[in-house]
Amino acid sequence: MTNVGVIGSGAMGSGIAQVAATAGHTVFLYDNNPAALQRSKDKLEKIMNRLVEKGRVDEATAQAIQSRIHYVDSLYDFKEPGMVIEAIVENLEVKRNVFEQLELIVPKDCIIATNTSSLSIAAIAAVCKDPGRVLGIHFFNPAPLMKLVEIIPAIQTDSAVLEQACERIESWGKITVVAKDTPGFIVNRVARPFYGEALRILEEGLADAATIDWAMTEIGKFKMGPFTLMDYIGNDVNYTVTETVFQSFFFDPRYKPSFTQKRLSEAGYLGRKSGRGYYDYRDGAQNPEPDKDKKLGQEIVWRILVMLINEAADALYLNIASREDIDLAMTKGVNYPKGLLQWADEKGIHHCVETMDRLHHEYLEDRYRCSPLLRKMARDGMKFYEEAE
Ligand SMILES: NC(=O)c1ccc[n+]([C@@H]2O[C@H](COP(=O)([O-])OP(=O)(O)OC[C@H]3O[C@@H](n4cnc5c(N)ncnc54)[C@H](O)[C@@H]3O)[C@@H](O)[C@H]2O)c1
Repeated sequence: MTNVGVIGSGAMGSGIAQVAATAGHTVFLYDNNPAALQRSKDKLEKIMNRLVEKGRVDEATAQAIQSRIHYVDSLYDFKEPGMVIEAIVENLEVKRNVFEQLELIVPKDCIIATNTSSLSIAAIAAVCKDPGRVLGIHFFNPAPLMKLVEIIPAIQTDSAVLEQACERIESWGKITVVAKDTPGFIVNRVARPFYGEALRILEEGLADAATIDWAMTEIGKFKMGPFTLMDYIGNDVNYTVTETVFQSFFFDPRYKPSFTQKRLSEAGYLGRKSGRGYYDYRDGAQNPEPDKDKKLGQEIVWRILVMLINEAADALYLNIASREDIDLAMTKGVNYPKGLLQWADEKGIHHCVETMDRLHHEYLEDRYRCSPLLRKMARDGMKFYEEAE
């Protein structure tokens, strides 16, 4: 078993170290903040105790997993790693500095990966003398629980490195999807309308947050409504991701952030963690009841869903990932009840195009432009997964 190095012992690095150690690797976990290393160690001990209490692992296994992680305060303490995954602060310059140093320390055949959510893998790889061994390995939070991992080759990445990385991560019990090195990769790109269109419906006064959440869970069968989910993620975090994606796409209006969310974030209404967001989480607070009008609910679900389908179709059109990987990413990464392209087939490609064109005609905004792929498929009578009758 090769040794694994993890850089950054925060939320993601700690989780990734746990996953690798559980798979049997000796892990070297480095952070430049000793307090963060100690927190990570304490947190893993708590997690392992809980798993033992619940009977998920036995005492000896829990001990073995913990003993396989070495908490180190220098990159020079990494012992012959076959793979290193970086999960430090989301800052291009800081990451590039670490990659430059790291490459001089690790063996020549060591794969070097970044867990970045939003930065360009090509820009990180470019500081290395051998950028062919660099790629993105994007885990979701919490890493030990979330099955999906997006693997992102940069234009410089060797195909053998991509293959080895996929194999290694799958051997850790994860499902991998391969995504092009573009903003938001698959999940954080395709999921934007789940929040953005819900916010737009709210801003237009068509329905309130409780009604939109009710429609999306009861009728749409999503696990969580968009406002409950934004409150859970944190409006500050969710807003920042949206703004980053918007900027990275050269201000494509499709990804335009919402003032409603910006103001909530500015006011400190961050969601659950601050006690208030779209909903009030303080003791004894009363939240509004949804308007359970079925027709309104169906309209809300279809408007958000068709925007998601359009985004997924466009990601396929632009070769961001394969049809299967786009559907897998959304069902396994964010627990959508169905793959969006499969959903498009069921709803009818024509129906999707008609709705997008109706919205576009009504608002005259580029935000509602229909993907050329959907339009072409409707014209040719095609489906994503089977030939149309
Ligand atoms: N939190 C998420 O939901 C999530 C999900 C997927 C990917 N990511 C990405 O993972 C990375 C880490 O995110 P996080 O949420 O774990 O952050 P975090 O703030 O919890 O942890 C980052 C850790 O990196 C350490 N660090 C900072 N600079 C360092 C340096 N130069 N050398 C060594 N250690 C350094 C910090 O001390 C800290 O412990 C980011 O790139 C983020 O975009 C985050």
